[in-house]
Amino acid sequence: MADSTHTETRLEALERQAELGGGQERIDKQHAAGKLTARERIDAFVDPGSFEEIDKLVVHGCSDFSMEKKKIPGDGVVTGSARVDGRQVYLFAQDFTVFGGSLSGAYARKICKIMDLAMKVGAPVVGLNDSGGARIQEGVVSLAGYADIFLRNTMASGVIPQISLILGPCAGGAVYSPAITDFVVMVRETSHMFITGPEVIRTVTHEEVSKEELGGATTHATRSGVAHFAVDNERAALALVRELLDYLPSNNMQDPPMQSTEDPSDREDPELDNLVPVEPNKPYDMTDLISRIVDEGRFLEVHAGYAKNLVVGFGRLGGRSVGIVGNQPMHLAGCLDIDASVKGARFVRLCDAFNVPIVTLVDVPGFLPGTEQEFGGIIRHGAKLLYAYAEATVPKVTVITRKAYGGAYDVMASKHIRADYNFAYPLAEVAVMGPEGAVNIVYRKEIAESDDPEKTRADFVDDYRETFANPFKVAELGYIDAVIRPRETRPRLIRALEDLQNKRDSNPSKKHGNIPL
Ligand code: HXC
Repeated sequence: MADSTHTETRLEALERQAELGGGQERIDKQHAAGKLTARERIDAFVDPGSFEEIDKLVVHGCSDFSMEKKKIPGDGVVTGSARVDGRQVYLFAQDFTVFGGSLSGAYARKICKIMDLAMKVGAPVVGLNDSGGARIQEGVVSLAGYADIFLRNTMASGVIPQISLILGPCAGGAVYSPAITDFVVMVRETSHMFITGPEVIRTVTHEEVSKEELGGATTHATRSGVAHFAVDNERAALALVRELLDYLPSNNMQDPPMQSTEDPSDREDPELDNLVPVEPNKPYDMTDLISRIVDEGRFLEVHAGYAKNLVVGFGRLGGRSVGIVGNQPMHLAGCLDIDASVKGARFVRLCDAFNVPIVTLVDVPGFLPGTEQEFGGIIRHGAKLLYAYAEATVPKVTVITRKAYGGAYDVMASKHIRADYNFAYPLAEVAVMGPEGAVNIVYRKEIAESDDPEKTRADFVDDYRETFANPFKVAELGYIDAVIRPRETRPRLIRALEDLQNKRDSNPSKKHGNIPL
């Protein structure tokens, strides 16, 4: 039997071996590539000293390709629990210095173990991805390991927040674990995601494309929408995830944490009275409006580079975490298109899943016209946003800041799809369509037969505007609850959210709905 000194020595040796991963040479290579190691990333991410590692001594069980001679304690992934701002999280960090961070059966079981623990205790899972994918030497055992993770990602969806940082390669089917999670954060130049890399693409489709253009952070944050955030370096990515967690509850049975604020709940902002231009077609920046109403002007925009015609993100109102959705008149005049609909729908569902109230700021001329949109399926994609808003049972508060035309009026958290408080600014216009389009259809004959068609059209436009293009008709019908002055947006929203804090609403019992995917 080993004496205690011998046992300690062995433990220390194994721990040191685990901590050294693939060895100093590979660590140096990792640093030279502008990347931190798995353990350095964990240190930078969690509250100091809070990381509690498990499975540090796990090794793979593969004996093909002489793998039995190559065993490194931990086997290429560091797993455990930690605290972020004092709150519990589970995390895994793939270690590229060990077999290129590739996933073995044992490695997959380590990830599954912390995911199972996270589900039992109701804590978020944060994944730090940096991997060459399936461990080639393990064959189907590795593929099975991925599937075990995908299944858990799916089961955990909507129960605990799941956040993926992509900090190196993430290719092939391996991308589908991050893809199922709630947020994907990428780092410019050092992280890449693709189903097939540039080599395969060159062979199959004869396209020439660089790794960065194909699957870099900018591509996924602006073109594909796969990444919610693109940042310049790993430390910024880790800091961002800490901030993100702050807006979310630990699980779907909790509310997001409240935070004290110095920003008065009754703060009015006279600047808001002039922020939205009187001219219906003059753009303004919806993020300016948002910054003026949220606590301390802090707004964490999600998907900021993708589908810019719709702004989504998190802020706080009176200390309470809220998800904010707003049409952005600076891009495509704030029209809803395919990408904006999908972006908005996913965000609304995330908020609903995690008990984050939704504030919607509406200035929408309608859905974007065009064959590209129609052929691309704007009908079913637009329906996603409608569906997401309609099924959401969290508190929903809506402010029409200027235009709310056509179907987009219904979609953008209207009273009819169960918004709780609907406000409108005095200059808001709610109608089936804009005045010009409307009179051209309804009064086509009268205008054509008139001696002065332009004057006749202008008169009809004025008449239409008087009748429909204002919030008062809608207020008479009770479809909006109050016409508010822009300056009082913040206090009115905070009061509405306070009133709604104990809201209970539900949907009919079902296995699950059939959102038009
Ligand atoms: C085993 C791997 C590995 C893998 C890398 N390594 N990928 N070992 N299985 N998948 C090892 C290398 O042998 C090397 O070991 C070390 O990791 C570092 O790799 P390098 O090639 O030296 O690094 P680099 O030049 O930075 O290139 C990184 C890379 C490249 C782009 C990731 O290694 C690569 O293309 N790997 C293969 C990627 C791949 O095709 N994976 C399978 C995808 S399909 P040494 O000992 O020399 O340090 C997939 C399916 C998922 O993943 C299934 C889900 C359903």
